[in-house]
Amino acid sequence: MKRVDQVGQVGLVGVVLSAALAVTMAGQTLQPTAPKKITVIKAARLIDGQGGAPLANPVVVIEDDRIASVGAGLPVPAGAEVIDLGGATLLPGLIDCHTHLTGQPGENYYDDMFRKSPIDSAVVAHLYATRTLLAGFTTVRDVGASELIDVAMRNAINRGEIVGPRMQVATLAVGATGGHGDMSGFSPYLSIKGLDGIADGIDEIRKLVRTEVKYGADVIKVAATAGVLSEEDSVGAPQFSQEELNALVDEAHMWEKRVAAHAHGTEGIKRVIKAGVTSVEHASFIDDEGIRLAREKGTWLVMDIYNDDYIVAEFAKKGYPQKIIEKERLVGRAQRENFRKAVQAGAKMAFGSDAGVYPHGWNGKQFAKMVEWGMTPNQAIKAATIDAAELLGWRDRIGSVEAGKFADVIAVTGDPIKDVTELERVKFVMKGGVVYKR
Ligand code: ARG
Repeated sequence: MKRVDQVGQVGLVGVVLSAALAVTMAGQTLQPTAPKKITVIKAARLIDGQGGAPLANPVVVIEDDRIASVGAGLPVPAGAEVIDLGGATLLPGLIDCHTHLTGQPGENYYDDMFRKSPIDSAVVAHLYATRTLLAGFTTVRDVGASELIDVAMRNAINRGEIVGPRMQVATLAVGATGGHGDMSGFSPYLSIKGLDGIADGIDEIRKLVRTEVKYGADVIKVAATAGVLSEEDSVGAPQFSQEELNALVDEAHMWEKRVAAHAHGTEGIKRVIKAGVTSVEHASFIDDEGIRLAREKGTWLVMDIYNDDYIVAEFAKKGYPQKIIEKERLVGRAQRENFRKAVQAGAKMAFGSDAGVYPHGWNGKQFAKMVEWGMTPNQAIKAATIDAAELLGWRDRIGSVEAGKFADVIAVTGDPIKDVTELERVKFVMKGGVVYKR
């Protein structure tokens, strides 16, 4: 009871002050601002996301949706709600730079393809968003969805109507006729209605980029080479020319959007880096020259090295064509070996899981793979916090537990530096000062 009274008093002072200010400053009627809600989180240690040594006995002071101050043993402001997490480790909310929140494999490939429509995805997608948030991922870059479901979901989350992570969305991935985004391998008389991300040649590509920006894309995704989960024969042959990719990136930059390029193949990877994309997704067959180019241009690599395990174990049971399973076998191991090479070469690498290929909420399983294939736990955590924030262009608002940023804070029971699988068991999630899991 006492604490509530104190809050009331602070609130009253705040209201009087802000009302007075509003009158003197503008001479017009402004709504008095509500008193700030102050929350304090305490724990045993804090990994702030920037790669430095953990801070012991952290106190994080939060005002409304923002972090106000962070330090060891800071005093608790009067009226604050204190969340004492005891022996836990605090971290910044995790960031997954490659998700497809609007879908997830069902029980059967052909059922998914022909018996479901985007409406089926639209009615369940909010569950995937919630699972992702509760797994500790407070931000995602969602790189491809049908029918603008991603835009609707981002907007509903931002309005507070559904529960999910902060989202940057790509709308439809831009792809070539017969390519990774097209319905290859089926009868030429079969077509599925709907918005379509297919564009060939510079003019069509430029127009599609403009259309996507018009409908709400934050980032442009291009399928620059063949892929695994599509029925082209190759898993890496280039699908756009250098000129087409240059035009796509030029157009996106004109509209102040970054480009994420799906590229498994060696040549296509080099083309997208030369064209100036911000990140290469998958990067499975990147060679030494590709790694060198990425380092020179500062291009991020987003390598989804967990999902091979899931595809190999589950996709044959789900009736995926043998061809696709064989393509995965070509990619899986090589991608992990090249991940290690890229880490050793000091390439810029951000966390991206391709969740949606496997169940949403399992995103954190990739940390153990990243450590198995050459990163330190600290590097893997950085890849999913400050580095990912940098890739998204959101370093000013997320990616670390620092004053001024959004209060996106998670906690795990133990010490993820000693056991990175702790990040598969996130126990506390706060996004923008609101607790979603405790
Ligand atoms: N969406 C990607 C594709 O179809 C998934 C690749 C998964 N495999 C892998 N080893 N990362 O190409």
